[in-house]
Amino acid sequence: MKAQLPGLLMAYSEQGEGQPLLLLHGYPLSRRMWEPQLASLSGAARVIAPDLRGHGDTDAPPGPYSVDQLADDAAHLLDQLGLTTTPVVVGGLSMGGYVALAFQRRYPQRVAGLILAATRAGADSPEAQANRDKAAATAQAKGNAAIVDAMLPKMLAARTYTDRPEVVAEARAIMASAPVPGIVGTLAAMKTRPDSTAQLAAITQPVLVLHGADDVLIPPSEAEATARALPRARLVLIANAGHLLNLEQPVAFNAEVRTFLASL
Ligand code: MLT
Repeated sequence: MKAQLPGLLMAYSEQGEGQPLLLLHGYPLSRRMWEPQLASLSGAARVIAPDLRGHGDTDAPPGPYSVDQLADDAAHLLDQLGLTTTPVVVGGLSMGGYVALAFQRRYPQRVAGLILAATRAGADSPEAQANRDKAAATAQAKGNAAIVDAMLPKMLAARTYTDRPEVVAEARAIMASAPVPGIVGTLAAMKTRPDSTAQLAAITQPVLVLHGADDVLIPPSEAEATARALPRARLVLIANAGHLLNLEQPVAFNAEVRTFLASL
């Protein structure tokens, strides 16, 4: 499905009824990464999964983007779906978590709860910012494949690479769909995102913090620090999962989300 937002044609999937659950994908992925969640959680919620600006089937206008802009896009999509006053559960993985925190900061009254998966609250270090610039230059010079080749070896747990070739192939296929302007615009959004650490203590909604125990891209210590700073958090480290824990361990991931939804 597609929704015409201010200045952006946004692709999204929607399945199920009841409590709205907005799922925000990571970089350089797309809503396709949420297929195991759309299939399973739509029995318990109205699952809405957009392709964020610059990803998948959504427009990829020239950047730079910002996390606030990506959060505003999500708010505009909810408006289009008639969810102007109903609070939604906002779940984000990695970059989607950065956007979820921006959404919570900008629209706290629209948030029923948060799911922060494989993400961190802090801003980029100067070294990480320099790496964003290098990645943008690589994408422009060599195309999407160079980004996928550099990132794929860090996205999954060691056991997923050896035992689950179909998950590796799916992750590669999803990443291969990100267009270069979207990659470059999104790298700028991540590079300039604010430090959300101070915001955590003021989040009154319940938060489910999920992290792969074997995540090498963002270490589990980030999730532990986030959960400690939140007034109402449940932290779960999922075994045998790396950065893409929802794809690697969908049964455990979905069970935690279902329990969280039922608790609201
Ligand atoms: C992601 O998975 O969304 C990104 O790798 C996060 C990041 O680069 O900070």
